[in-house]
Amino acid sequence: MGEDTPTGSADEAPRSDALVIFGFTGDLVGRKIFPALYAMVKKGELSVPIIGVASSKWSIDQLHQRVREGVEREGGVDDPAAFARLISLLHYVSGDYKDAATFGALKAALGGAQRPAHYLAIPPSLFATVIQQLGAAGLAAHARVIVEKPFGRDLASAIELDAVARSVFTESSIFRIDHYLGKEAIMNILYFRFANSFLEPIWNRGHVASVQITLAEDFGVGQRGGFYESAGCLRDVIENHLFQIVALLAMEPPAYQSFEAVQRAKASVFHAMRPLTPDGVVRGQYLGYRGEKGVAPDSDVETFSALRLHIDSWRWAGVPWYLRSGKRLPRTAVEVLVQLQPPPQALFDDSRPADGRANYVRFKLQPASAIALAARVKRAGKGFVGDQRELYLCEETPSDESAYERLLGDAMAGDGALFTSQDAVVAAWAVVDPVLENHHPSLPYAPGTWGPQAADALIAPDGGWHNPAAEVCP
Ligand code: BG6
Repeated sequence: MGEDTPTGSADEAPRSDALVIFGFTGDLVGRKIFPALYAMVKKGELSVPIIGVASSKWSIDQLHQRVREGVEREGGVDDPAAFARLISLLHYVSGDYKDAATFGALKAALGGAQRPAHYLAIPPSLFATVIQQLGAAGLAAHARVIVEKPFGRDLASAIELDAVARSVFTESSIFRIDHYLGKEAIMNILYFRFANSFLEPIWNRGHVASVQITLAEDFGVGQRGGFYESAGCLRDVIENHLFQIVALLAMEPPAYQSFEAVQRAKASVFHAMRPLTPDGVVRGQYLGYRGEKGVAPDSDVETFSALRLHIDSWRWAGVPWYLRSGKRLPRTAVEVLVQLQPPPQALFDDSRPADGRANYVRFKLQPASAIALAARVKRAGKGFVGDQRELYLCEETPSDESAYERLLGDAMAGDGALFTSQDAVVAAWAVVDPVLENHHPSLPYAPGTWGPQAADALIAPDGGWHNPAAEVCP
């Protein structure tokens, strides 16, 4: 893999000549997509018409205001000329996705564009309707479709949705987005593992005792209660974002230099994951969730999930993987802790520290990117006692390219390297499918805590959770 993402096809593939965004007035577009579009325009990477589609009857002025608010939230308008260019590219079509007239209006708005990229930033329940309408309106030929996660609601619907998508679009024109794959720190897991040789000898069941990953957020569902009620934490972030991190950590070295080989190696991890069982999953719900807008007063939807996962492969047999995510936790952070086995013999009194953390490798993925290797070193003095210290590699010049900027640009260029394959999507759903409906009730937890106590009990045999700290670079 070279400096870019060499799939081999991106160079030959023609660039999309318009970007259509469904769900234009939604939360995701407001928070992440407007800032990404602004950055792309600013860098000269986006100059084609952008057509927003949504059901809200917004005036163009309202829309411009929303775009400005979105950009302001992420650093502000520091280049008024670029912002004006972005505004001049915007068009808006409002209408019901079930109504063919909406797609007639979209066709008119597309004007002479021949190869639009249709980005579906809408709830999964609407994907099939929109894809079918695009096909029926003749808007799919030479076009690309970018589908937001979660791709389906369960195993059966993911397979069904894929059939619908493929009846309208070719496989190479379907881009299944998981924005975690466009994050610099997550791409660095792949690089760090395979650009170094010292990890490989210990990166297996012989040396790794357990792995844990936490994706914590200090905020609640906000305006997304309606969406969240149909998703829950497991579908929203675990089956996709956290599983992608697991795949990058657990995969075998790609057999050759290509992203296709990476995709295959990652998909093999999903295939080797043991399907979850209700006893291996703790579900939680923050107190106050039931009062959020769009949430049922008796909702059992989980805003927190902690689970134990097994990868039944030669490399990982017997190593537990603990995944945890939740809203309204003490802070917003994503961290991985790969816990290594303690030395075979306790030659010093403090060789087995009380918290059970022998050596470990820690990947801090958010808010900043860092990698820490923890080892015990002797304290000065006569006694053979020491401390656990970290060798800390900190990214001091974070990338200014957001995940969405990267991924939208790649999809419009026809480069599928950082997107999820259908094989991986189906295999991942097969792991969570048994617990989507069949599970223990959600346990309440107080906002600002690390979730229900049952989650601590789940990981207790393996030394407990590592709670991400506030520090970025020491
Ligand atoms: C989205 C989820 O996919 O990822 C959200 O729908 C979650 O619920 C978000 O907050 C987290 O993404 P990031 O990039 O902010 O860590």
